[in-house]
Amino acid sequence: MTTADADGMAAVDEICFAVPWSKQAFYDEAENELAIYFVARDDGKCVGYAGFWNVSGEGGITNVAVLPKYRRRGIASALIGAMIREANTLSLGLLTLEVRRSNAAAQSLYKKFGFEIIGERKRYYSDNREDALIMTLRLG
Ligand SMILES: CC(C)(COP(=O)(O)OP(=O)(O)OC[C@H]1O[C@@H](n2cnc3c(N)ncnc32)[C@H](O)[C@@H]1OP(=O)(O)O)[C@@H](O)C(=O)NCCC(=O)NCCS
Repeated sequence: MTTADADGMAAVDEICFAVPWSKQAFYDEAENELAIYFVARDDGKCVGYAGFWNVSGEGGITNVAVLPKYRRRGIASALIGAMIREANTLSLGLLTLEVRRSNAAAQSLYKKFGFEIIGERKRYYSDNREDALIMTLRLG
C-alpha cells in the first residue's frame, strides 16, 4: 500500500467491519515502518486489502477484507499468499491473528492456509463482547 490507498482501504473497511478503522488509521499505517499491507485493485479501485505488523520476529495480521461484490473469487487467498511470502522473506517465525468465533468464512479461509486455532480471547470485540479465536501459522 501507499498513502494513495488509504481512502480506498477505509471505504472497504467501512463496508466489511462492524467497527471499522478511521481514515486516519490507514494514513498512519502507510507511515508505520512495522506495517506491511497488500491491496487488491480493480480498475484502480481498492476492492480488498490485508496486512500485518512485523513485531519481534512475528507477524500480527491486523485485517483481511474484500468487498462483498468481489468475494469468492480468490482475492483474500491471493492477499494471504502475498503476506505469507513476505513473512517468509522477512524470516518471521509465525503469523498470528484474531478472528470472531462466529466468523466461519474467515476461519475456513485461514485453515486452508494451515492456520490453527491455538487459543481464545474472551469478550475481545468491543461491539458485542464476542470471543476471539487466536489462529497461527508456523513459518520456516
Ligand atoms: C473472509 C473474506 C476476507 C474472504 O474473502 P474472499 O476473497 O471471498 O475469499 P476467497 O475467495 O479467497 O476464499 C477462499 C476460501 O475461504 C473460504 N470462504 C470464503 N468465504 C466463505 C464463506 N462465505 N463461507 C464459507 N467459506 C468461505 C472458502 O474455503 C474459500 O475457498 P472456496 O471459494 O474454494 O470454497 C471476506 O468474506 C470478507 O471480507 N469478510 C468480511 C471481513 C472479515 O470477516 N475479515 C476477516 C477478519 S478476521
